[in-house]
Amino acid sequence: MASSSGLEIASIDAGYGAVRVLQGVSLSVPPGQTVVLLGTNGNGKTTLMRSIMGQVRPTAGSIRATLDGQTVDLLGLEPQQVVELGIVLVPEGRRLFPRLSVEQNLRLGAFRATARAKLDENLALCYEMFPRLAERRSQLVGSMSGGEQQMVALGRAVMTAPRILLVDEPSVGLAPILVSRTMEMIALMKERLGLTVLMAEQNFHQAVKIADRGYVIVHGHIEFEGKSAEALQDNELVRQVYLGL
Ligand SMILES: Nc1ncnc2c1ncn2[C@@H]1O[C@H](COP(=O)(O)OP(=O)(O)O)[C@@H](O)[C@H]1O
Ligand SMILES: [Mg+2]
Repeated sequence: MASSSGLEIASIDAGYGAVRVLQGVSLSVPPGQTVVLLGTNGNGKTTLMRSIMGQVRPTAGSIRATLDGQTVDLLGLEPQQVVELGIVLVPEGRRLFPRLSVEQNLRLGAFRATARAKLDENLALCYEMFPRLAERRSQLVGSMSGGEQQMVALGRAVMTAPRILLVDEPSVGLAPILVSRTMEMIALMKERLGLTVLMAEQNFHQAVKIADRGYVIVHGHIEFEGKSAEALQDNELVRQVYLGL
């Protein structure tokens, strides 16, 4: 399935009251690509994700999505309206309901109107892509491992029938082998659902495995744009400042 959905972020400023976080951030997520936003803690990755979702209000710039050839201005929309357009965020820390089962968590993902109509179909797709979730469908999410919980969080995103997937630091708290599997799951979801993906990550080596291009964010500025995974790997700033090589 090919994607025709993308994102264009131009010169946004955003923050929290007097705290300025993003300053003049521009970033492009072309249809069908996986773009990675690299940066260490506190540099503004989550603020950018939340700005796209309408959870943080930028004070300047623009955020536009192209969905099936139609361009939509996202600034000023409520988070619920952004979700209705088919843009979903898998938040940092996953934010699942620990006292509900896997299947209850998944079903809660299907709240937007178009997704509700396809609930059974998407649930079957989730279980086909992630067989472990089918085996564990009645298990309480709070009793699962971090890697399994990340799988539930990704599955819940599948239930919203998204076109653009935002994933905020999926590697946090996971052992290296599970980080690697999580990247594979994201790549599989992208392939199966024909998604366009923007992923925030600190784990350069793992993220770059599935990235078509990437940006490095430092103190709320985009410091480097790599138009390919190789360009990111070869960059001196990335090597010295970010990777500490
Ligand atoms: N709700 C908030 N109120 C005030 N400052 C915040 C809030 N959330 C984040 N910040 C600040 O914004 C900056 C960027 O944070 P964040 O976007 O979470 O970065 P990252 O996701 O890259 O770790 C940090 O300095 C952080 O302390
Ligand atoms: Mg963050």
